[in-house]
Amino acid sequence: MTSPAPHIPVLLAEVIAALSPKDDGCYVDGTFGAGGYSRAILGAAACRVHAIDRDPTAVKTGQGLEAAHPGRFTMIEGRFGDLDELLRIRGVNQVDGIALDIGVSSMQIDQAERGFSFAKDGPLDMRMERSGPSAADMVNDTDETELANIIYRYGEERLSRRVAKAIITARKDKRFERTGELAEVIRKVVPRSGDGIDPATRTFQALRIAVNDELGELERGLEAAERLLVPGGRLAVVTFHSLEDRVVKSFLKTRAGEAAQPSRHLPQVAQGPAPSFSLLSRRAISAGPDETRANPRARSAKLRAAIRTEAPAWNGKGGRS
Ligand SMILES: C[S@@+](CC[C@H](N)C(=O)[O-])C[C@H]1O[C@@H](n2cnc3c(N)ncnc32)[C@H](O)[C@@H]1O
Repeated sequence: MTSPAPHIPVLLAEVIAALSPKDDGCYVDGTFGAGGYSRAILGAAACRVHAIDRDPTAVKTGQGLEAAHPGRFTMIEGRFGDLDELLRIRGVNQVDGIALDIGVSSMQIDQAERGFSFAKDGPLDMRMERSGPSAADMVNDTDETELANIIYRYGEERLSRRVAKAIITARKDKRFERTGELAEVIRKVVPRSGDGIDPATRTFQALRIAVNDELGELERGLEAAERLLVPGGRLAVVTFHSLEDRVVKSFLKTRAGEAAQPSRHLPQVAQGPAPSFSLLSRRAISAGPDETRANPRARSAKLRAAIRTEAPAWNGKGGRS
């Protein structure tokens, strides 16, 4: 087994500037990964950090950091969609800042055994948690229409129906077990585009998002953050593709009272609840040329950040909406 490449934290300086950690503050790193954000927050102020990750391998790395920062750092295994419950059972009811760095880490992508990669053959797995239904289960057991919908919705693959049909035909002979087998079938029916992107990219992204319910997690995580942050508390979210960024942008704009208004020619609608966030910047922050040169993964990254207002959370029930 080759050891995975270390994960280079993306937009690190910008995330820390957005959180602006203060002494005695309490912060959450909802996507610990290799701990780049957690370490930087711990280094920026004499504060506490609670880190969360759903991947048992990342959690093991984080447990090593607990000993280095006694009383200041806690590693929690779980999903950030449950972050308020995960903290409440540990006696933490409010926090000063939350960082989320959405998606997969370099360790997950680069390790063929985790089954996220179409470039390196491995078991068709893709489960961050290493439990529950895998990508192989999804590819082998989902009907053609549903499979096409998943590939279209989460991969934005125009040829989703063609890909689903090819998968259904191929699996009649033999169930899919390896990432390489699936990538082969996709490459036969999706032409390579001019930008050189592998034809399997969009379908693999779709399966990964579906297997890990990534967009559902993101929506629940944002709502949980709204409930947990103190007035003046800060939320910083980094995303890597348009589907995720759309969720964050729409959530923050709505909560900041800046969602697109219906036409001024229509009758006025009743005012919504008071804004629970104010945006730190109207536009998403992207990586500069130095960072994208040093870390190509940063090219598609977008940071959106906001400050919690005094207004109650829109979904203040403390449960899932
Ligand atoms: C992009 S990496 C984070 C890298 C990290 N910022 C660093 O500097 O090392 C994303 C991490 O979030 C974890 N993750 C993804 N979705 C999650 C969720 N819903 N709950 C908890 N962890 C999640 C993944 O397992 C992965 O380790």
